[in-house]
Amino acid sequence: MTTAFLNGDYMALDEARISPMDRGFLFGDGIYEVIPVHDGKPIGFSLHIDRMKKSLSAVDINLDWTHDQWCDICDKLVDKNGGGNLVVYLQVSRGADTKRHHAYPKGITPTVFGFASEIAASPDGEETAVTPLKISSAEDKRWRRCDIKSTALLGNIIHFQKGQAAGSDETLLFNVAGEVTEASMSNVFVVKDGVVMTPPLDHQVLPGVTRLMLLDMLRKDGSVPVEERVVTMEETRHADEIWLTSSTREVAPVAQLDGSPVGSGEAGPVWAIAHRLFTDKKFDY
Ligand SMILES: Cc1ncc(COP(=O)(O)O)c(C=O)c1O
Repeated sequence: MTTAFLNGDYMALDEARISPMDRGFLFGDGIYEVIPVHDGKPIGFSLHIDRMKKSLSAVDINLDWTHDQWCDICDKLVDKNGGGNLVVYLQVSRGADTKRHHAYPKGITPTVFGFASEIAASPDGEETAVTPLKISSAEDKRWRRCDIKSTALLGNIIHFQKGQAAGSDETLLFNVAGEVTEASMSNVFVVKDGVVMTPPLDHQVLPGVTRLMLLDMLRKDGSVPVEERVVTMEETRHADEIWLTSSTREVAPVAQLDGSPVGSGEAGPVWAIAHRLFTDKKFDY
């Protein structure tokens, strides 16, 4: 049985209870983090907590917990859930109110929830262990603060579900100007003529921890040029390679976009460099 954390206590997940008046439930008024754990070690922990603090501040949820406090919860969830390969999910909602009203209530206590679930071991440097994805594309219809890791994910869910219904693994999103933003639950990298490109961070894009780590690794490695710049759908349709990054997928190659092969239709040589780097260096973060 999964062990969860709720407001200071650890308990069996199916015994955890919150009020139906919790604003997380009523409004999606909360933020969250998903932290991958491999061989019992959280990857990019401080980067995840930094982002959570930014999201909390962006939505005025007052919770001044330190990195050490979050680290203690994360360590205990890992320990109580058997270690190994997990994702630790942390969520903070604004808390439970006595009435339903849009205004942020004063003096409300945030609800803090966490649990861990098992994931597959991350693919090692072995390239053949990774199955390239088939993805579709759609105009990004989400809200305009995608930089906040909000629990209000209905826009992302609709995009993801439509893609799944059409037989794709993920949905690549583009704005009204035809520029790639990100995907429904991952960031996007595009390779053309040996140059790696990813859309710059702004309100249209979640600042993915995997994206940040991979950019840092590629820059330190220096063997392939990297650019954070606007990438159009037109460019993406003619890309040599497309990759998606997220905490659970790490660096995933894309074989098909909207039914057409990406480059050779297989994981590309630049991806192999990125995959190897990520596999070797991720425990440094
Ligand atoms: C919309 C969106 N973009 C990007 C990402 C990747 O972020 P990270 O690398 O921090 O997992 C996620 C992950 O959940 C996401 O939901």
